[in-house]
Amino acid sequence: MSFLRQFLPPVFTASGTFGYAQEMENVIDLSRLGAVIPKTVTLAPRPGNLPPRTVETASGMLNSIGLDNDGIDEFLQQKLPYLAGLRTKIIVSIAVKNIGECAVFGEKLQSAAGIDAVELNVSCPNVSGGVDFAADPKLCEQVVRSMRQSLTLPLIVKLSPNVWNIGEIAKGAESGGADAVSAINTCLGLAVDWRNRKARLGNGFGGLSGPAVKPIALRCVRQIFCAVKIPVIGIGGISTIDDAMEFFVTGASAIQVGTANFYNPAATMQIIDALPAALAELGVKSVAEIIGSLAL
Ligand SMILES: Cc1cc2nc3c(=O)[nH]c(=O)nc-3n(C[C@H](O)[C@H](O)[C@H](O)COP(=O)(O)O)c2cc1C
Repeated sequence: MSFLRQFLPPVFTASGTFGYAQEMENVIDLSRLGAVIPKTVTLAPRPGNLPPRTVETASGMLNSIGLDNDGIDEFLQQKLPYLAGLRTKIIVSIAVKNIGECAVFGEKLQSAAGIDAVELNVSCPNVSGGVDFAADPKLCEQVVRSMRQSLTLPLIVKLSPNVWNIGEIAKGAESGGADAVSAINTCLGLAVDWRNRKARLGNGFGGLSGPAVKPIALRCVRQIFCAVKIPVIGIGGISTIDDAMEFFVTGASAIQVGTANFYNPAATMQIIDALPAALAELGVKSVAEIIGSLAL
C-alpha cells in the first residue's frame, strides 16, 4: 500500500511557495492540509541568486531564487520543531550537490523527530548543476539509491520538466528505490527587458510556474504514470478544484499547490472543500478510484 494513503486529503503545499508554514498560520487552517512541504534545504547554507529573483509574466511567474536557505542544521533546530507540532504531515524537501552528501543528509533526517517523508529535489533549474540528476536516468537512479540506503522514511523524488523523456527519468528514480515521484518543478525560461537589453532576473534564466505550465505538467504526469508503478504527485499550475481533478484522472495520486499560494493563499482550502462534490460528480467517494482513469 502506498504511504500516500495516510497523507489525506491528497492536497499539499509545494516547496518554496509556502515558506516554512508559520508565515501562513493565521491565513489558513494548516491542519486541514494533507501535507506541508517547506522550502528546499541543502546541507550547507546558500545565499541564493542575485536579485531581482522573481518577475511576473503573461500567465505565470518566473523565479530564480537559487535555493536560498540556512542549511539543514539550522532547519532542524529552528524550523522543524514548529512544523512537527502541526497536526499535518511534514515532507522535508532537500537537495544534494553530489552523491557523497546523501549519507550525511540521511543520518541527520533519520534521527530528527517529526518528519513524515522526504522529497529529494533533483530538479531546481536555478542552481549550477541543479538539473544533472534529473536529466539522466542513470544519475537519477544513483542519487536516489544512495539516499535510499541512508533513509528509511518514505522518499519522493521531484523531477524536472526540462528533459526529453521524463518517463525514463522516473524509471531511474523507481529503480533507485523511490516510493513516489513528484512533477513538475519549474520550466526553464527567460524574461527580457529589451530597452535595456537585459534579462529581467538577476540570474538571467529562471523557472516558469503558474497557469502557463499546467498543460506541460499534465503531460509529464501522464508520461510518468504510464512509465512506473510508484505513485505520482502532480504539481504545476494548480489553483482550482478543476485543475486538481484534471491531475487525478491523468494519473496523480496527490497534488501540490505552488504559485497559487502567492495570489490566493486559500486555494488549497477551496480545493479541499470542493473535493467531495467533484468526486460525487464522477460517482465515486475517493480520489483512489479515479487516479489515471483518463481515456488516452
Ligand atoms: C518562488 C518559487 C520558489 C520555489 N522554490 C522551490 C524549492 O525551493 N524547491 C522545490 O522543489 N521547488 C520550488 N519551486 C517549484 C514549485 O514547488 C513547483 O514545483 C512549481 O512552481 C510548479 O508548480 P506551480 O505552477 O503550482 O507553482 C519554487 C517555485 C516558486 C514559484
